[in-house]
Amino acid sequence: MKKIVISLGGSVLVPSLESNNIDRYVSVLKKISGKCRIFVVVGGGGEARRYIGVARSLGAGEAAADELGIMVTRLNARLLIAGLGDAAYPRVAENYTEAQEFAEAGKIVVMGGITPAQTTDAVSAVLAESVGADLLINATSVNGIYSADPKKDAGAVRHERLTPLELLEIITGSRMDAGANTVLDIVAGKVIERSGIPLLVLDGRDPENLYRAIVEGAFVGTVVCEEGSTPLPS
Ligand code: UTP
Repeated sequence: MKKIVISLGGSVLVPSLESNNIDRYVSVLKKISGKCRIFVVVGGGGEARRYIGVARSLGAGEAAADELGIMVTRLNARLLIAGLGDAAYPRVAENYTEAQEFAEAGKIVVMGGITPAQTTDAVSAVLAESVGADLLINATSVNGIYSADPKKDAGAVRHERLTPLELLEIITGSRMDAGANTVLDIVAGKVIERSGIPLLVLDGRDPENLYRAIVEGAFVGTVVCEEGSTPLPS
């Protein structure tokens, strides 16, 4: 069975506690898990940003704010596990070795953040490298990587395909603050580049997009891989 690591943005899974999409993701992830081995890395979403904002206003430093962000990602991961029930390993993996061990049970493995100064995109890239994943998917709140921020610049154009090196060039130069929201963080970009694991960036606001990409090979977004390779099922 193919191994797929999914970076599930908190902004799509738990934009806020009240407006969560956990139910919809649970049914899609269960459908996909019959066809491949899945590892899900859950982001912090709006709640992480709220905690980080309050911590900063209290004078906390960036690393302390990051630690709070990590705790919220793990809370979100636990909520997803609660929804997945028997389909998921019952604990949140807190490091890569644990994720590999939990995968032995043949269930969906869920984790959140690991260490300050990165995002869960970096966690998902390192996890993909650790478990030898065939594919990494970033399900986020935009439908791909754009030439500029599409929420701010009407002229932004979506990249259909990028090489890992082109991705890294796009990422370099962006800042890294707690709660920062860039395409991917630099750690993620470097690991994607060195591992050669193909990456799909797609719109996770509709969970069915995941199913369509993984099972049907139908995909709207950005593919990051070496020229000539075809990471999607045909
Ligand atoms: P993310 O930035 O990964 O979640 O983690 P998100 O913003 O919900 O993801 P997207 O944008 O929807 O894809 C939230 C915060 O938690 C801290 C960082 O401060 C990060 O911005 N964090 C997370 C870490 O410090 N280390 C980690 O390994 C993960």
